Amino acid sequence: MVRRLNSAGLCGRLGLGSGGWEVLLWLLVLLSLLAVRGEGQTEVALDEATVRSDAQGNLYVTSGAERRVFVDGLDVTALATTLAAQQAELDRLQVQRAELYRAVSSLLRSSHVLLLGGRMESVAGFNATLVFDGTSWSRGPSMPTARYTPGAAVYRNEVYVAGGYDNANLAATDIFDGVAWRTGPLLSTARHRLALAVYQDRLYAFGGRADLSVVSTMEVYDDDMELWVTTATPMPTARHSQAVCVFDGLLFAIGGKGQPRATLTTVEAFDGRTWLTMPSLLQARQWATAAAYADKLWVMGGYDGARNLVSVEAFTTATGWVAQSPLYVSSLSVSAVVFNHRLLLFGDDVIQVLNGSTWTVLGDMPEPWTDYGLVVFP
Ligand SMILES: *[C@@H]1O[C@H](CO)[C@@H](O)[C@H](O)[C@H]1NC(C)=O
Ligand SMILES: *[C@@H]1O[C@H](CO)[C@@H](O)[C@H](O)[C@H]1NC(C)=O
Repeated sequence: MVRRLNSAGLCGRLGLGSGGWEVLLWLLVLLSLLAVRGEGQTEVALDEATVRSDAQGNLYVTSGAERRVFVDGLDVTALATTLAAQQAELDRLQVQRAELYRAVSSLLRSSHVLLLGGRMESVAGFNATLVFDGTSWSRGPSMPTARYTPGAAVYRNEVYVAGGYDNANLAATDIFDGVAWRTGPLLSTARHRLALAVYQDRLYAFGGRADLSVVSTMEVYDDDMELWVTTATPMPTARHSQAVCVFDGLLFAIGGKGQPRATLTTVEAFDGRTWLTMPSLLQARQWATAAAYADKLWVMGGYDGARNLVSVEAFTTATGWVAQSPLYVSSLSVSAVVFNHRLLLFGDDVIQVLNGSTWTVLGDMPEPWTDYGLVVFP
């Protein structure tokens, strides 16, 4: 039994025309034949039209671009078409989401300065982040944990923010991969005004203020186990609010505030195994900031126990500490980074830049925040 069915014929006869009964009758015969032949998929090619049944006895009739679906003899083509359209829309949205993800990622992966948390006068800590591209500021994704005076560093292409303060000393670690934040492990000791630094491909947290004491302990981040482990190498001097910097193959801890309450000139350096005593600063300072720039270790600003400092000093092994041109303006909070080959100093009100041997103002800070973390990322 061979019926010739072309696409025009199929379209016409599946309508309510006079020939409709003929086709319906034919379909019923075909269905019973398929039932006799048993379950599974069966395909019958009729000239240009294809009729396919599935194990449930549903019938698919395809002819050229025309496709009709019958379930229990009912034409559900419209429903099937709607479902297919929804699937296409879903696929389109998923492609869009992936593209957006890549765009955000590449935006943050071209080098930026990231300002992390902080506070405003007596207001508690923020979870906000700000992104500086060299000329303008924008908002970044918020951290899971609001905080000020945290430690912050970039380790294996991710931003780590640990410790800090928000009504209590914090142990929380938040990690940013360039797109989103996730929550990391807790520090062994909750602390604020601590230092976070990467040295010899290891992430260290050390110093700071805990609830009852100034801390000398050092913790190292175990990337495989994803936890912080206290090392057997505490700093010789317990301190918080120290400046830290890797320079000349050593990790420097500079100044800060010790116990009993004293602003320090003490400088110590970690070589991976032990702490060495280095030449003391010319000026006692806490809340100062340090950066390696033009083959020198620079220490800038801070607080001497009575006032904010504009003084700057720089160290090399050959010269020891040497006084440099002062900052253009002092600031309660200072954070220095080398960005696009320039030494920048972020404060509460302005960004200053070292131009030759002179500090000038590069631009305004977007918000009068203090006690934030600051990193260059990536
Ligand atoms: C950040 O803090 C704001 C205000 O406190 C809050 O509304 C928001 O949910 C926080 N964001 C995250 C990611 O925790
Ligand atoms: C740096 O100093 C030079 C010479 O004094 C001056 O022409 C230039 O504008 C300064 N640049 C900035 C960014 O202040």
